[in-house]
This record gives sequence, structure tokens and C-alpha cells, in this order.
Amino acid sequence: MNASLSTVSYIGATILFILSLGGLSNPETARRGNLFGVIGMTLAVLATVLGPRVTPAGIPWIIGALVVGGAIGLVAAKKVQMTQMPELVALMHSLVGLAACLVGFASYVDTSTLFPTEAEKLIHEVEIYVGILIGAITFSGSLIAFGKLSGKIGGKPLLLPGRHLINLVGLLVVIGFGREFLQAPDIQAGMMPLLVMTVIALLFGVHMVMAIGGADMPVVVSMLNSYSGWAAAATGFMLSNDLLIVVGALVGSSGAILSYIMCRAMNRNFISVIAGGFGSGSSTPSAATGTAQPTGEVTPVSAVETAELLREARSVIIVPGYGMAVAQAQHTVCEITKRLRDKGVNVRFGIHPVAGRMPGHMNVLLAEAKVPYDIVLEMDEINDDFPETDVAIVIGANDIVNPAAQEDPGSPIAGMPVLEVWKARTSIVMKRSMASGYAGVDNPLFYKENNRMLFGDAKKMLDEVQAALAA
Ligand code: TAP
Repeated sequence: MNASLSTVSYIGATILFILSLGGLSNPETARRGNLFGVIGMTLAVLATVLGPRVTPAGIPWIIGALVVGGAIGLVAAKKVQMTQMPELVALMHSLVGLAACLVGFASYVDTSTLFPTEAEKLIHEVEIYVGILIGAITFSGSLIAFGKLSGKIGGKPLLLPGRHLINLVGLLVVIGFGREFLQAPDIQAGMMPLLVMTVIALLFGVHMVMAIGGADMPVVVSMLNSYSGWAAAATGFMLSNDLLIVVGALVGSSGAILSYIMCRAMNRNFISVIAGGFGSGSSTPSAATGTAQPTGEVTPVSAVETAELLREARSVIIVPGYGMAVAQAQHTVCEITKRLRDKGVNVRFGIHPVAGRMPGHMNVLLAEAKVPYDIVLEMDEINDDFPETDVAIVIGANDIVNPAAQEDPGSPIAGMPVLEVWKARTSIVMKRSMASGYAGVDNPLFYKENNRMLFGDAKKMLDEVQAALAA
């Protein structure tokens, strides 16, 4: 493939990636968006492998790597549970970071590229230094995020004394070694400052994510998503690959936008998240400990009574959460929805931006169960409708319906926007016990007068409700 055909293919792939991102922004077009992404990536890989910069001798290596990487990816994608997706995503981000580091070191020791001017050589070395810096932070930060999300590392934030000072000193050392690196007369002399910076960047990545509380992890995952995009863009600069620069920038900026949306949803400060300096002090939730003790009396309800309340209702709002994903109850939810709608009940879903364990978690499950998209509404679209709702049914959700976020300024989740289910005539919370949710805080909703608790596994309970509705 000659250079101009390769460039045209890159432009085609770029357009497909942009269409893909556009498609993924809406559940109705998400499938098409995915398809555009797959075609774009196939085109990009083919144009690169068959392009002018790959020699025939390199092709077997690339095919070998594709087979090994593809097989690992296929097995992982088949094995991973929906609830483990954030961990998988964090692990993938770490690989992008690792790739940026390896490409950086490889292009530094590669002497085959000749630079016509000193300025061009300098720019290339700056790209290498910055690329390895971002890559190393992304690599170690994502590994720690993986550890925290999978429960291998505790969710409690690690707050070292003087941690901001430590970060500042690290930054100054990185700048100092950067100067030494750029002034190094040869590769041997430049290797030492490059290695020292890499170690500092790795430690910084660990320190940054270790300092973040368990309940802030959604923001971290999307922030590392953004970092991995910038790491890919930096790799594109090092390799002078325009497509990689564009795609990296797309991922980097969409990840930053997602982080911003998540910050708003969790009432976190975007600037301090971007600077990596959040998660300290009293504003940090107590992490995923699930240890808060219940502090009141609750009114239990049976599945039959729940079915009666639903049968008598004219409007119902269903709020799904992490527990629905664990119980895999979405199909039963869909069947109950259909049954109620057939009887003329106005059934809608209220989706919190951080419900479940990854962005869009609930939307994916409901789409899988074929719940119509037009009755699945975002929190902002539905929150004002609770006072006119007969029954709000909460399925395995906890933090996202916690009134303490509004009522208790001292609560770890104070200020986080929540779905105001307690304003419905009756709210029913479906969960197995009085255990707290991800943020580890008690939920005053459970003790409200108009609230009922339907204890049990969400799938089992919904099957019983469904049977009672059918009777
Ligand atoms: P949570 O607050 O974590 O509450 C889920 C509830 O589901 C638990 O209290 C649990 O209570 C219940 N549950 C678990 N398994 C169940 C089952 N089989 N049947 C019925 N109930 C079950 O979930 P949420 O309300 O969706 O809020 C999400 C939380 O996760 C937020 O704090 C958010 O910040 C955090 N988070 C979100 C993300 C993203 S990006 N969405 C990523 C990481 C963390 P029992 O044990 O008593 O059943």
C-alpha cells in the first residue's frame, strides 16, 4: 500500500471513529456506533500493517502479536462478568500506558531515524519524555485502580502526610531530569534521567490512585480512560502516526468529558480530579466498606403485597442499581414492566449517572432485556416526577437513592445528586439485607414512613412479584 492510499485509509478510519463515538452516545444508535468502531479499527490496522512503514520482514511478528493479543482479549471478554467490566477497563488502560512507555524507550534507542535539524531531534526527545511520563502514570495508576475495583487492595484512601508536597517535589525532579535528558550528548547519558523519571512517574501513578477513596473510583476510571487517550496520542507523536494522535485525542477528550459528567453526578470538583489531588479530607466518602450500622425501624413488605401496590398504581418509577446487575434481574424487570404497561400503568425507569459499577451500566442491562428506550429516563429528566408517582420501586440500588446526600451536610455523600424516590406516595426498596451500598453509609430512606423493604435476592423477589401479578 503506498503512502497516499495509507493516508486516505487513515482519514476514513478517523471519520469512522468520530461516527462511532457519536453513535455510542445514545442507546438506540450504540450498536451502529460499535460497528463503525470495529470497521474503523480494522481499516486502521490494515492501513498500518500494509502501509509504507512496515517492512515485509515485520509482518509475521505483527500477525503473531495479533493472534496472541486477540486470543487473550477474546477469552477475557467471554469470561468477564458485566459487574467486572470496570476492572477489565482499568486493566486495558494500564496496557495503553505500558505500550506508550515501551514505544518511548524503543524510539529513544532506535538510531535508524535521522533528524535533519537539531530542533527536530529536540522535539522528538520531548515527545519521548512526555509520552513515557504519561504512559507510566497511566500504567501504574490503572493497575492500582484494578486492584481497588477488584477488592484486591482496600478501598480506604491512603493519605500520606505532606502528600501534596511529595507530588510537588516529584514534579520538580521530573522537570530537572527532563532538562538533563534533553541535554544528554548520547543515548547512554540520556538513559539514566529517563529511567529515573519513569520510576517517579510510576510511583506518582500509585500514589495518586491510592489516595482516592473507594466511592470516588468511578471518576478515577473515567479519568484514567482520558489519561490512556493522551498516552496513545503521545505514542502517535513519537511514531509520527497521525491516526494515533487523532484517536488518542478523541479518547483523551471524551474521557475528560465523561470525567466531568461523573464529577457533576457525584458532586466532586473537576479541576481537583484532573490535577489528581482529590480524595482527601472530610469530603471523601468512607469507601466501599459496607460497614455502616442501621439506625432505625423499617417496614418489611412481601412480594404479594408489592404486586398489589403495583397493580393499584397508575404511575410507577423503577430505579435499578448495582443489585439488579448482581441478581441479573433485568429480564424479569422487563416482563413486569410489560405486564403493567399492558394494564395501562405508566411505567418509567430513572437512571442515575453512577448507578451500578460503570458508566451506562443500567442502560446496557435494560437494553439487553429489551426495555423500550423511550421509558428509560436520566435522573434530571425524571426527578421532578416522583411527587406525582404512586410507587417508586428501587431494585438493588442504595447510594443513588440516599436522602442523606441532601439532608445531612456531614454525610460522606453530601451534595451528591440522588433520585428522590422518597417523594413518591410509596417507595419499595428491594435488597437482601440492611447492608450499606458502595459508599459504606447508612440510608435514611429505609426508615421513612412511606417506605417498604422487600428483602431478598432481586431476581427471586421479582419472580415472586411477577407470579403474584399473573395470579
Ligand atoms: P450501591 O449503593 O452499591 O448499592 C447496591 C445495593 O444492592 C446494596 O446495598 C446491596 O444490598 C444490593 N444488592 C446486592 N446484591 C443484590 C441482589 N442479588 N439482590 C438484591 N439486592 C442486591 O449501588 P447503587 O445504588 O447502584 O450506587 C452505585 C454506587 O457505586 C455509588 O456509590 C457509585 O459512586 C459507586 N460506583 C459507581 C461506578 C459507576 S461508574 N457507575 C463505579 C464504581 C463505583 P444487600 O447487600 O443488602 O443486598
